[in-house]
Amino acid sequence: MKIYGTPAARKTVRPLPSRQSDFLPAKKEAWGSRIGVILAVTGSAVGLGNFLRFPGKAAQYGGGAFMLPYFIALFLLGLPMAWAEWAMGRHGGAHGHNSLPGIFRVVWRSKLAPYFGVLGLLIPVAIYMYYIYIEAWCLGYAWKFATGSMALGADPSRYAEFFARYVGLSAHGSAFNLSSGSWSDSVLPALALCFLLNFAIIYRGLGKGIELFCKWAMPALVVCALIVLVRVLTLGTPDATKPEQSLSNGLGFMWNLGWGGQTVWQALANSQMWLEAAGQIFFTLSVGFGIISCYASYLKPNDDIALSSLTACAGNEFCEVALGGLITVPAAFVFLGAAGVVAATRSTFNLGFMTLPMIFNAMPLGQFVGAVFFFLLFLAALTSSISMLQPAIALLEEGLGLGRRASVALLGFITAVGTAFIVYFSKGAVALDTFDFWIGSVCIYVLATIQVILFGWVMGMERGFEEIQRGAGIHVPKLFMYIIKYVSPAYLLIVFGLWLFQTAGQYVRKIGSDPVVAGSVGFLVLLFVFFLMLTAQAVRRWQKMHPFHKEAGP
Ligand code: ALA
Repeated sequence: MKIYGTPAARKTVRPLPSRQSDFLPAKKEAWGSRIGVILAVTGSAVGLGNFLRFPGKAAQYGGGAFMLPYFIALFLLGLPMAWAEWAMGRHGGAHGHNSLPGIFRVVWRSKLAPYFGVLGLLIPVAIYMYYIYIEAWCLGYAWKFATGSMALGADPSRYAEFFARYVGLSAHGSAFNLSSGSWSDSVLPALALCFLLNFAIIYRGLGKGIELFCKWAMPALVVCALIVLVRVLTLGTPDATKPEQSLSNGLGFMWNLGWGGQTVWQALANSQMWLEAAGQIFFTLSVGFGIISCYASYLKPNDDIALSSLTACAGNEFCEVALGGLITVPAAFVFLGAAGVVAATRSTFNLGFMTLPMIFNAMPLGQFVGAVFFFLLFLAALTSSISMLQPAIALLEEGLGLGRRASVALLGFITAVGTAFIVYFSKGAVALDTFDFWIGSVCIYVLATIQVILFGWVMGMERGFEEIQRGAGIHVPKLFMYIIKYVSPAYLLIVFGLWLFQTAGQYVRKIGSDPVVAGSVGFLVLLFVFFLMLTAQAVRRWQKMHPFHKEAGP
């Protein structure tokens, strides 16, 4: 393979940095192949965000108009930050660290550094706690379509009732109350199965667990998406009395600029859309989660990261724009028309779990297509949720010296408590929504900002660029380093500031007025403190083994 890079980096494909002995011994686990790590990172990225969140947001903001801020955020935030995360991760891994606190300790030799990495444990674990709940809905719906028990007819209220019962939306604790219904109407068996699958894969480790599973699941997921896509693209105009509800108008609704009478400029003047587009880029690429750095830390010091990162981002964008963008909204449009789609996309769950099942039931071969679609969602969610467990497992192993069995058991217990909390407080999905706001939105922005500043300003442009270019399979234009150093942090701070200003107030007020919201925030604070204590313990251990701060200073 041709190796790109600065003259200095090209000469090298360097030996390990000389200070390696200052850190920990080389790690034991490693990826088995380059395609394996790319598929694992792509698997982490491709998830519910691609097939449910993205089409919902795009349709909500007038389709084509959304794509402009979306692609600007991809080039100014997503791609550069993914490179930064890969580079810092591989750099930390070369010094024996796999968890974000350890990786930050290597990048920034300050005693404070590891504590900034605590967010890289809290974020993936807290997101896992609610993400797996939705993963279980997907598995349950796939099963119900496959067995024919999802044939609820053409009345939308029956789907809403079913969803509310299945998820326990009507009252707190109702998801656990099995006396009022049968096991088949409960999400609990699917949830238990999802938990078991996730931890079984994680228990098998990086190569035999995550990598092997993603090598199988990612192609399977794309095949499933293509089956559903072919069905949707051959729908034509199902209702001859409504010729405007044609497939081509459905695609136009998703992709044309200025649908619904608004001009392009009116659409683009919507600041909320710019914020949501940036948030979608973070969520979909799994940037700002702490996951990419953890995965990249298992690479060898001279393995390519430039092309691998680009490939994973491109794979995610293919699944999001070309697959996710062509399935759900056009399918809903041909049956419900523009107004129906707009109403359905007001909530991601409405589109995915109430509207789409009804639409599948209305189309020929719908039972089969519905089963394939929800199985595809389940696979996409599973390849993402396993990636959310690995950062904490890495800390438990390298920071506390626990074995795989003990780490998996401890993390299994913690996440089970969190998920039980969310499932119990399911009325109106309040706990889930609170976790998603404070962690899946606020904390992701905060960690992304910390990471971009550490990479661009602490690691520095020269060191950072050399790290990206070492062993690189493509030439990364140096322009990207300027983007990472100046544009991305400025963009992030503006977007984050604006967004906090516009939306945080209502969530802060809810803490005071709703005990479940207050309890959920309290739970997250406790989880943060727990990870802070684990990190403090890990730092003590690392300092005893390799007290490099004494030499290097903060
Ligand atoms: N990146 C994952 C998704 O899109 C979390 O769902």
